[in-house]
Amino acid sequence: MWLILLGLLALPVIIFAYIELRVAHRRRLVNKFNGPATVPIVGNGFQMGKNPSDILNQVFNWWHQYGKDNFRFWIGYYSNILITNPKYLEYILSSQTLIQKSDIYDLLHPWLGFGLLTSTGKKWHKHRKMITPSFHFNILQDFHEVMNENSTKFIKKLKRVAANDNIIDFQDQTHYLTLDVICDTAMGVPINAMENSDSKVVHAFKDMCYNINMRAFHPFKRTEFLYRFFPEYSKYCETLKTLQDFTNDIIEKRVEAYKLETNKKTDSNEFSRKKMAFLDTLLSSTIDGRPLTNVEIYEEVSTFMFEGHDTTTSGVAFAVYLLSRHPEEQRKLFEEQCAVMGSDLSRDATFQEIADMKYLDLFIKEAQRVYPSVPFIGRYTDKDYEIDGTTIPKGSTLNLALIILGYDERTFKDPHVFRPERFEQERPAPFEYLPFSAGPRNCIGQKFALLEIKTVVSKIIRTFQVLPALDELISKDNRLSTFLGPEEERLKFEQKRHKYDPILSAVLTLKSENGLHLRLKERVICEIFLFCSLSTLFAYLLRSFAEFPLLSLALCLY
Ligand code: HEM
Repeated sequence: MWLILLGLLALPVIIFAYIELRVAHRRRLVNKFNGPATVPIVGNGFQMGKNPSDILNQVFNWWHQYGKDNFRFWIGYYSNILITNPKYLEYILSSQTLIQKSDIYDLLHPWLGFGLLTSTGKKWHKHRKMITPSFHFNILQDFHEVMNENSTKFIKKLKRVAANDNIIDFQDQTHYLTLDVICDTAMGVPINAMENSDSKVVHAFKDMCYNINMRAFHPFKRTEFLYRFFPEYSKYCETLKTLQDFTNDIIEKRVEAYKLETNKKTDSNEFSRKKMAFLDTLLSSTIDGRPLTNVEIYEEVSTFMFEGHDTTTSGVAFAVYLLSRHPEEQRKLFEEQCAVMGSDLSRDATFQEIADMKYLDLFIKEAQRVYPSVPFIGRYTDKDYEIDGTTIPKGSTLNLALIILGYDERTFKDPHVFRPERFEQERPAPFEYLPFSAGPRNCIGQKFALLEIKTVVSKIIRTFQVLPALDELISKDNRLSTFLGPEEERLKFEQKRHKYDPILSAVLTLKSENGLHLRLKERVICEIFLFCSLSTLFAYLLRSFAEFPLLSLALCLY
């Protein structure tokens, strides 16, 4: 009896000692990095904060505390190293072997399976090679047409919802637009989310993205096994099934149409191919000489649906929000629109005109510096790695903090000041600014994303004056309305925070927990006409001075 009791008492101690012994090597190496003091078993889990916004603040606070360099923290026995040092980033992102994603990406597996974002090893290599041509220049031009069509619908909807000086949550509105663009480009099927925002599928997309973001930092919900015991699990399964059925149904119909069309040219139904969708490229692709299986097609299409709309939602929404708070930037952008587009500002911009909008490029670069759509990316070390003389042990999670890079004053002077011109003057080195990551696993959709963001933002600038939720919220000194930095400064900043200032929440994609509120005022025709005529005249004069300097000078003097 006593022996059994003693055994029962000793068991936890033995388990604890066994785990500690197994983790000792990793602990010794990881603890060579600076980092907060840990508590046995829980590590630093209890200090991380309760929600994604607290976690983001804590990470920034620790980064300042530990010399603005890489640091480590422990979540239970999971060792995490937060990486911001450009030398480390260069090593990790350039590596052909350190490509395994961290366990946070496991949350995506039930929905996305093992598509390009979440797979690793040989499968990832082969699929990356096969998918790369899907973003060829010609295909992007087709996609641009879809982006233009949907932006026009978006503008119409905005005119409606923002009428009468209404304050709108622009983040919410953008979600439907990007969903329409991605369904049309990835699957070739419009779902018209902007008009049917109550539809089951539209809800499912929104709920799934929210669910993944929220689960990511919950100690119990993160594990699939434990998540089963939470009351919302059945709702999650329902959402998952809605998305799976929706995608599979379209794939099936598209496969049928594809077979029919390869036998006989027809475009008699909605699944026939007027424009090449990403799905069509997959249907005509091969891997090792064989066509893709339905599961493989499902995984890649779903990956594009997720990665291609949640990221651009944040890209478009934060860019337009920044317009609302920085009217001087908006003025410069509007001037550029007039110079590039001439007097007809309501037409669609061509592919070339979008490329000519250089100030808009700088603006989006700066928007991605302060509010990067993908704030962190994760890797998992499947063996020991030696980086810059330090060993990173097998079994570590590396959190590459892309968002912190944008707030490093060694690279960006006055990081809390919004100044697009800085990208002409400060020019960060290659691994000091990475919104689309870099190296073999960089964002394959970068050109697509920038084209979409530029197309939408350009149309918004031409149609509306973007105003803050309340007039007094305009930034007078071009400082941001959010703060990411050391704790004391942040607390001071918080005291002045307005309810319409965003609360940043960073998990898989960056969002504002309380939405992005603003107003839209339609530009009046005569204002556009006057502005555009003047800028066209000015551009014309400049050109004639360059071509016929003497004649122009004589005319001017006359
Ligand atoms: C502003 C918009 C976007 C940003 C900032 C962005 C950023 C990123 C980043 C940082 C990664 C690396 C992720 C990692 O290593 O874990 C990534 C990967 C990826 N992105 Fe994007 N992305 C954007 C839009 C898009 C779009 C529109 C698509 C598709 C149409 C897309 C498709 C992908 C895919 C498939 C990967 C995985 C690539 C691989 O592992 O080989 N992204 N993106």
